[in-house]
Amino acid sequence: MCPETKFRHHVNERLHVMNLVKRTVEIGESNSVLLVGPRGSGKTTLVNSVLKELSALKSFKDNAIIVNLHGLVHTDDRLALKDLTRQMQLENVVEDKVFGTFAENLSFLLDCLKSGDKHRSKPVIFILDEFDLFCEHHNQTLLYNLFDVAQSAQVPICVVGISCRLDVMELLEKRVKSRFSHRQIFLFPGDTSSSEQSMSAFDDRLELFRDLLSLPDDENVNKVEQQYDDCTIDPQFGSMWNDYIKSLITNVTMVNLLKRMYHIDVSERSFRNFLAVAVSTLSEKHQKLEVNDFVEASKIFSQDDKLLILEGLSILEMCLIIAMKQETEIYDGEPLNFEAIYNRYMKFANQNSSVQSVQKPVIMKAFEHKILLPIGNTNTKFEKEYQYYKFTLTSQQVIEAVKNYSGLPTEVSQWASSSI
Ligand SMILES: Nc1ncnc2c1ncn2[C@@H]1O[C@H](COP(=O)(O)OP(=O)(O)OP(=O)(O)O)[C@@H](O)[C@H]1O
Ligand SMILES: [Mg+2]
Repeated sequence: MCPETKFRHHVNERLHVMNLVKRTVEIGESNSVLLVGPRGSGKTTLVNSVLKELSALKSFKDNAIIVNLHGLVHTDDRLALKDLTRQMQLENVVEDKVFGTFAENLSFLLDCLKSGDKHRSKPVIFILDEFDLFCEHHNQTLLYNLFDVAQSAQVPICVVGISCRLDVMELLEKRVKSRFSHRQIFLFPGDTSSSEQSMSAFDDRLELFRDLLSLPDDENVNKVEQQYDDCTIDPQFGSMWNDYIKSLITNVTMVNLLKRMYHIDVSERSFRNFLAVAVSTLSEKHQKLEVNDFVEASKIFSQDDKLLILEGLSILEMCLIIAMKQETEIYDGEPLNFEAIYNRYMKFANQNSSVQSVQKPVIMKAFEHKILLPIGNTNTKFEKEYQYYKFTLTSQQVIEAVKNYSGLPTEVSQWASSSI
């Protein structure tokens, strides 16, 4: 629940963005920049933290206008223009004026901010989140005009595009691209800046774990109280809690769990979501976060997609999966075909009178749903029964799936765990 604008690492990248925005506001320079990085890498947080820091300066607060546009909200340029007018507080000025083109409209808006010469005009910071979506707008009119204004430095504006697409530049039409500064800043997760290089990326994750779960200590408690005035933390409880959290990151099970999750997904967003799920298990009756609470919470985040598919299978299909597992074990991962699986299944069915007998074509149908990778050309002279496939599950996954399947006949689960 830390403030969304508290930003860590990527010191240089942040400074770069900060300087560009500052130059627009302080010396009336026009700039354009794209901030690019994978989902959850902190792009939006970086920009918000820069704006928040700058807003503390009086010269910035009194002078600059910030316009926030979002690709998912402003789905066409007409909508974007309307909101842009609102955010610049120019709705009254525009009223029912009719403009010939988009460019005329935009330049009218920007002209309104002028008072005399260029240096006196109010600087405008445009933040375009999910920038790549703006590239889909008809003729990229908004982008063209913004970049055109920035390049010709008519009025001080700074255009900051945020995107998760590494190839975002390629999406720009030629005439738009040529007006863009070509300045790109990349954010990659785990990319700790040089001063912190002694710390591995995973150590940093542990540090974050402790940081996010710790209660504010004495000095900060007052601040918390201001924020949530109905919340007071008993200092004794606070320090006990914090010591306990500290001890968690030396717990082997805990560290291994965090490590595994880190390898599945490094993004801080999912990490925070995971912690939120764990924390939400706390209640009056349950006042301590046990390692097991984290293990339970992690299940949502590190689910195996293939296991999810297996959960929805019929008992017959499950039996075929088990037959495939055994066939694969016996022949050491060699490809398999329907005939082999059919024979193995029939053998099992015949030995267990309780298993309902099924017609071969039905089994064939069930077989075709399987998680199998066909090998070679599927249109060859081979009959369907003899087409070879590679089985793509591990034995471990099959055993796991059998365990999770409620209502599976005992014979079947015994069959799955029997060694050959
Ligand atoms: N360097 C960082 N410092 C502080 N918080 C971070 C950092 N990186 C990521 N986060 C946290 O991770 C979460 C996701 O960050 P953010 O929304 O900024 O990602 P994004 O790059 O904008 O992702 P998307 O492309 O999906 O919009 C936020 O809760 C944010 O607080
Ligand atoms: Mg974002």
